[in-house]
Amino acid sequence: MNNKFQNTTIDGQKITAYQLGKSGIEWANGAGTPSDGMDTNKENQPTRKLTDSANSIIIYFSRSGSTELLASKIEKETNADILEITVKDPYPSNYPKTLARANFERENQDYPELNMQLPDLGQYRTIYLGYQIWAMTLSHPMDSFLNTYGSQLSDKKISPFMTEGGYGQGDSVQVVKEILKQQGATNNTFTPTLVVDGNKVDRADKQVNDWIKH
Ligand SMILES: Cc1cc2nc3c(=O)[nH]c(=O)nc-3n(C[C@H](O)[C@H](O)[C@H](O)COP(=O)(O)O)c2cc1C
Repeated sequence: MNNKFQNTTIDGQKITAYQLGKSGIEWANGAGTPSDGMDTNKENQPTRKLTDSANSIIIYFSRSGSTELLASKIEKETNADILEITVKDPYPSNYPKTLARANFERENQDYPELNMQLPDLGQYRTIYLGYQIWAMTLSHPMDSFLNTYGSQLSDKKISPFMTEGGYGQGDSVQVVKEILKQQGATNNTFTPTLVVDGNKVDRADKQVNDWIKH
């Protein structure tokens, strides 16, 4: 693990992003990436920065830290509030076990139970929605989040951002739109999507700066 990334923080808490510094065969498009078994938060509290003044909020899930690092970059540019999505049973640190669980969940449409409270979103105009790509679509915790709380996202500008293993955003934004519609959310607008390879988030500052202008 590269020490320099332990000095990066989100709302004062350490971020460890396991893919950074890897490339080629070593990176393997993210396959094999471990986590600390607590969805990046073993020593941390789930990120929850809620102020009275922000008019935007970053809502994200990250297992192995890359999406969390991307969220932290967006926060530094926008000063948005932040809410981390957490599940009752965190994904294993071991990648093959995570993959097996994710495959089971997808095949059985059995998405993880959340253990979080959603604050009142009334003050926010923009929601930065952050997830990683699993099996060419959005990761399951974000699916659970939207299926649980989607109705409360009416009248928001949605700015999707994601990290992935080099195969792109898949159908994830289309699925986000479909779930919001199913949940009865109305009057949403969508900005362009920010897509960053999971091993290159440390080099994404310019991409983030260009994207947040939308
Ligand atoms: C279960 C699982 C499935 C994945 N499927 C894909 C995929 O279909 N396409 C892709 O590009 N990356 C895939 N990845 C790689 C992740 O999207 C990538 O490593 C991402 O940066 C992880 O973000 P995180 O560190 O915030 O958890 C997958 C990773 C996992 C754990």
